[in-house]
Amino acid sequence: MKTNLPPAQLKTFQKRLLRWYRAHKRDLPWRASRDPYGVWVAEVMLQQTRIAAVMPYYDRFLKDLPDVEALARAPIAEVLKLWSGLGYYSRARNLHRAAKEIVAHRNGKFPRTLDQALELPGIGTYTAAAVLSIAYDVPLGVVDGNVARVLARLCAMEGDLREPRRWRELANIAQEWLARDSPGDWNQALMELGEVICTPQIPRCDFCPISNWCRAYNLGLTQKIPAARLKRATEHIKIAAAILRDPRGRTILVKDPGAHDHVLFSRMWQFPAVQVARHPETELEAHVCATLGIDSIALQGLPAARHSVTFRNITLLPFLAHVEQLPKLPRTRILSMENLSQLPISNATRKIAAAFLTKQKIRYRK
Ligand code: ADE
Repeated sequence: MKTNLPPAQLKTFQKRLLRWYRAHKRDLPWRASRDPYGVWVAEVMLQQTRIAAVMPYYDRFLKDLPDVEALARAPIAEVLKLWSGLGYYSRARNLHRAAKEIVAHRNGKFPRTLDQALELPGIGTYTAAAVLSIAYDVPLGVVDGNVARVLARLCAMEGDLREPRRWRELANIAQEWLARDSPGDWNQALMELGEVICTPQIPRCDFCPISNWCRAYNLGLTQKIPAARLKRATEHIKIAAAILRDPRGRTILVKDPGAHDHVLFSRMWQFPAVQVARHPETELEAHVCATLGIDSIALQGLPAARHSVTFRNITLLPFLAHVEQLPKLPRTRILSMENLSQLPISNATRKIAAAFLTKQKIRYRK
């Protein structure tokens, strides 16, 4: 891969970017300390989630579970509750499992080598290299989406960056250019540049400290590089969910295999729900009656909500039904609507609940 970076200029290039990072870096909560636990939690939260969305979760998580021992001791329900709303809940489950492993078998210390870090649940190349470089200055380059874009523009790399051979090439470049005396700052400098200057749509090249080494900039290709990703076709699905209410205003949540449980409700507490096709009401009634042993229910439609998870575009169809008595069954919980957030619930469940609460408000105003 061609770059505008002759080996003799590597030091100057590194110095420029590091100087820019040290002068302009944002004051993000996980940058306050190099404690590996805090860095690790941040890196896991930041996967597939924007910085602004992560900040309040990060602060709450670290306040309630300030170290790896506290995380290992916590029940999974508490961990999921702290994660509730961030999405991709397998990240939280793996974080919890890895914390237990660190406490039980590694003396409570995050590993110091790549191979050992990779043995932990949920830790892949990116997370391992990010934590080891930022917390311990282990000389490992990282490539996430932001870094990939920066490196691809610097080298004017064409084609889909996520193709394995290109991604491997980017990883090699990241390693080759790594400032080996400051790996943590270097990696974060590349991330920061990608987040605030070398942005996907309209990069702010006038403010870029390393634009004179950038082939895409010099060739006028920053709009074309990186190439648009080949997108997986969007799948449209409809999920109908039942909010059952008893005369005391309580409802029932279930842990219910079905209804894209894993993707949408992340195996957390949810309203009884099922994927539907042509006749949502009939199909939902059949599902509720079969799974909860109820004879029949009169479902009343509430406003629909939209929810997207990766390539799935989901229409949530909430329904309300009044029942005389809620069934007492294993893997169910009965509680009042106001208390839903006592249990770990996903954003999809929150949206379904919101359809009901909004309706209540409208009625109340009348
Ligand atoms: N994105 C992922 N990790 C990050 C970090 N440490 N700083 C800024 N952005 C990031």
